[in-house]
Amino acid sequence: MNVDMSAANTAVRQHLAKFSPEELLRWRTAPLDRPLDAAARRIDLPMPFGWFVVSYSDELAKGEVKPLRYFGKELAIWRGEDGVVRMVDAYCRHLGSHMGHAGRVQGNDLECPFHAWHYDGNGAVTKIPYSKAIPPQARRGCIPAWHVVERNRFIWAWYHPHGVAPMFEVEMLAETSSPDWADYEKHEWIVHGPLQNLAENGVDAAHFRYIHGTTNMPAYDVKFEGIRRVASVDAKMPTPRGEVDGTISYGTVGAGQAWTRFTGICETLMVAGITPIAPDCTHVRFAFTQLKSAAQGPTAGVARGVIKDICRQLDQDKVVWDRQMYRTDALLCDGDGPILDFRRYYRQFYAELPQDGDADSKIVKRTFSRPAK
Ligand code: FES
Ligand SMILES: [Fe+2]
Repeated sequence: MNVDMSAANTAVRQHLAKFSPEELLRWRTAPLDRPLDAAARRIDLPMPFGWFVVSYSDELAKGEVKPLRYFGKELAIWRGEDGVVRMVDAYCRHLGSHMGHAGRVQGNDLECPFHAWHYDGNGAVTKIPYSKAIPPQARRGCIPAWHVVERNRFIWAWYHPHGVAPMFEVEMLAETSSPDWADYEKHEWIVHGPLQNLAENGVDAAHFRYIHGTTNMPAYDVKFEGIRRVASVDAKMPTPRGEVDGTISYGTVGAGQAWTRFTGICETLMVAGITPIAPDCTHVRFAFTQLKSAAQGPTAGVARGVIKDICRQLDQDKVVWDRQMYRTDALLCDGDGPILDFRRYYRQFYAELPQDGDADSKIVKRTFSRPAK
């Protein structure tokens, strides 16, 4: 079955049409006007574990320190003179300074701005310049340190609420290291909702028509394979030169890595970095790379259109996500897509399951399993 990507005028399209382009850009990352209570929306879900994007690689230079706020924590990230990225909880074990603000890199270590204690990437104190001795506890490691890797031009951190070590790896995407593919074009949003609602969107077949305005609903062939989810759908893409047959395929690994490939119209890879800031707040980065030969020349307009359309779709979803409640007892009907299959799959990424005793969580508890170590 084909999905027609030409757009009908949906309610959400009308809602967004009142924004000027500048207002729309501001709205994408603005605080929520009249925020609703997270418990009342039932979005006080635990944060899933996994690898999550915390920065673009090219936004952290050698010798640079930055403060971050993700996973409900204050963090300090830095790139040592050796080029390696390290990340620790931000508050110094000594007297509590936030080391992401005004801390500096010394060699490969992070120097606290308050009394110049030096920390390595394991959260251990390597030097106290004014003291004859480093307290043994400080030398062994006294602040939490994070597993960090660089893949696909992103910096990824492993989050697990109980400090369990990484259980799987970030998948490499070949396009991101190929000279034939363009630099990333970057877009971002703050969504005032939990990660799971965003992830569920991909299997919500009916919304494509009623939010995004496609003229029919995609018949996704979604496969849930351990920690991976893959799907592909044929699509008719509108272009200035008429409709083009194409394929949209997406993959996810764990709760934090997702990408979408568009072929047929203009070879495009969208790498999504979707990271919890807090249980009810999510940072979304969409990074687009396109085959240089398609992004320049006669197909450049079409290539721009692909990116614009995907960003528009995220805008449309955000209108709902920002105030959506999480219906554990969702009343589903024929045509809704494999939403319950998705929820069973997704629960493997929670270290603790929500204890709400309703129908959905009972299904979930029976099928819960952890990825193999
Ligand atoms: S608070 Fe960090 S060195 Fe004193
Ligand atoms: Fe959507």
